[in-house]
Amino acid sequence: MAKRAADRHPTKFLLGEKEIPTRWYNIQADLKTPLPPPLHPGTGQPIGPQDLAPLFPMGLIKQEVSQERWIETPEEVQDIYRLWRPTPLYRARRLEKVLDTPARIYYKYEGVSPAGSHKPNTAVAQAYYNKKEGVKRLATETGAGQWGSALAMACNFFGLQCKVYMVKVSYHQKPYRRVLMETWGAQVVPSPSPDTQAGKKVLAEDPDSPGSLGIAISEAVEDAATRDDTKYSLGSVLNHVLMHQTVVGLETRKQLEKADAEADIVIGCVGGGSNFGGFAFPFLADKLAGKKKKLRVIAVEPAACPSLTKGKYAYDFGDTVGLTPLVKMHTLGHTFVPAPVHAGGLRYHGMAPLVCKLYDEGFIEAVAVQQLATFQIAVQFAAAEGILPAPEAAHAVRGAVDEALRCKREGKRRTIVFNLCGHGHFDISAYEAYLGGKLQDYEYPADKVEEALKHLPQVAAVRG
Ligand SMILES: Cc1ncc(COP(=O)(O)O)c(C=O)c1O
Repeated sequence: MAKRAADRHPTKFLLGEKEIPTRWYNIQADLKTPLPPPLHPGTGQPIGPQDLAPLFPMGLIKQEVSQERWIETPEEVQDIYRLWRPTPLYRARRLEKVLDTPARIYYKYEGVSPAGSHKPNTAVAQAYYNKKEGVKRLATETGAGQWGSALAMACNFFGLQCKVYMVKVSYHQKPYRRVLMETWGAQVVPSPSPDTQAGKKVLAEDPDSPGSLGIAISEAVEDAATRDDTKYSLGSVLNHVLMHQTVVGLETRKQLEKADAEADIVIGCVGGGSNFGGFAFPFLADKLAGKKKKLRVIAVEPAACPSLTKGKYAYDFGDTVGLTPLVKMHTLGHTFVPAPVHAGGLRYHGMAPLVCKLYDEGFIEAVAVQQLATFQIAVQFAAAEGILPAPEAAHAVRGAVDEALRCKREGKRRTIVFNLCGHGHFDISAYEAYLGGKLQDYEYPADKVEEALKHLPQVAAVRG
């Protein structure tokens, strides 16, 4: 009997609930040399777990420094993951056709989570470990509103209060994200806000500041550090956050097996590095072990905030005001305030230290793309595949399409796999602006970056 088209050309590769990975992958175990340690901003000496204790529960601090390759996902976290996981892996057949490319394109879709992105994968884990250690309230920042929504939902599940400092430009661009967070019980304020000393300081210097992730982090860190009942929660950058996200890449590997496919090129967008790290690290494990030497792993960032491609690999603060430990990362300088591009979640001056080290050692490539080219491809993707990408995720689509077009030029049949890390249903005003011809590109702000890099902390001087 003839096979049906669905058997011959499947579009989705699905896993059952029992196939959700029950352990996270910790790439620290496979690094050739350890990460440069975070440093105390006052002494320049490596910090210990106790230095982080005012901000994070010990369960997460242990994960941050763990060298174990696999860490069990607690049952309570798995229970909640099952609300939307496993997420689907699609073969983008219709996009391939439009592009007329010999490449095979697959995408993992994290937009099916209740908050609309990959962010709940770590939000749920973080809320769980805080609850376990008796924390009552979490403070955080949010750029696009995706992370704030994810944490608001997770706090709601575990009965924690949640305060969200939302970057002012996004607060106004995305009012419905705020309402979603409030529906899940969170309190949301635009950042910079008058609620913290850090916010007041920025407002005094620039009352019209559009805000940035760096500023909002300063506010949330201050909030947590000055209240006994509160800890801080970060949606990206940190080792444990990237590790929680590996559930995405681990599922994708299983799904590619079902598709009888092997990735040649793995692509994700990068803001602080969490969806990219979580997606790519399980693939990079092979490359670090000396296998799959030809595998290419590409991080895509906005040209307006190009930390990997233009930043300096140096110790810097994670926030704008200078409250966090110093971490070694590709940075545009902690005082750099990126242009208000609509990919709010990618407007961060730094990058996850794990991503930076792997980039520095040549395991990862990076490209920067412009806003208009990104929206153009997002619209093309929506037309072909139906899904409206979050502006951040559209950077990964841009990267994947550029590689597919390269395959076409070179006549190569590569398998491209990318992470479509969120939907754009709350980003309609960005699409409206694009379709109305009101969006613009922002050139690489070389002079602003040069100025910001002058304010990098003098680590050698402190340490020496
Ligand atoms: C949909 C989406 N993608 C990507 C990002 C960037 O963060 P990360 O690089 O940690 O994945 C964000 C951040 O808010 C986001 O909301």
